[in-house]
Amino acid sequence: MAESAASLAKPSGQGQRPRHVAIIMDGNGRWAKNRGWPRLVGHRRGAERVKQIVRACPDLGVNWLTVYAFSTENWKRSTEEVLGLMGIFARYIEREADALSAEGVRMRFIGGRERLEPKLQRLMAGIEARTAVNTRLNLTVAINYGGRDELTRASARLAERIARGEVSNPTEADFADCLDTAGHPDPDLVIRTSGETRTSNFLPFQAAYSEYEFTSTLWPDFTPAHLAEILDRYGMRERRFGGA
Ligand code: IPE
Ligand code: IPE
Ligand code: MG
Repeated sequence: MAESAASLAKPSGQGQRPRHVAIIMDGNGRWAKNRGWPRLVGHRRGAERVKQIVRACPDLGVNWLTVYAFSTENWKRSTEEVLGLMGIFARYIEREADALSAEGVRMRFIGGRERLEPKLQRLMAGIEARTAVNTRLNLTVAINYGGRDELTRASARLAERIARGEVSNPTEADFADCLDTAGHPDPDLVIRTSGETRTSNFLPFQAAYSEYEFTSTLWPDFTPAHLAEILDRYGMRERRFGGA
């Protein structure tokens, strides 16, 4: 980890950088289990990795980063693990708020909020408001996020807009505007760590034309150097969007 993100960014040469990278941060539990440690130790190490990747993104030419932190399905886990994760999210916001502000990061959240602790909801709203003017990196964290849940809530929002006469013949853009990610560009690249090759309900509408990268690296081992390597590979891909 001696190399700085800036030095990693330079010589790769060809190809363009993805503007928006989305990451399914998977493998914290296995990382801890491999060491005989509790799963929460893996989640804590995973949160440290988020800080490093957030710091590296602007130098790597990435202006939007969306990370999947907790899915609508993750409530199935033990109470201890769920509460532990919620505590990690709250501490991340509290401890990183000054650094995020100073580094020009705009932090936002997607996913249903009503099921989260009121204290966490307040921290989320607070950091969103505090960093709203920042533009260097758009960091979006998916908490209690599920693509099917988001599509269902978006459908209800669109129905309300139609009922109010604000929308008449809905377009894809009208629908996108009802998603939690309204105003976000679509992800160019989705990365999943830990070797699993599924999307697990992450951004089904937004990632319809994204490139995917699956790496066997567990999230707590994923460094800015790994990200830089994946971004280089992305630069060699040809995106056709259905064209010939
Ligand atoms: C990803 O790591 C973090 C969350 C889903 C909250 P996991 O906790 O899923 O780790 P594995 O997949 O069990 O190794
Ligand atoms: C996806 O990982 C959710 C997050 C990374 C937050 P999971 O570990 O929950 O996904 P599955 O259960 O392997 O599909
Ligand atoms: Mg997992």
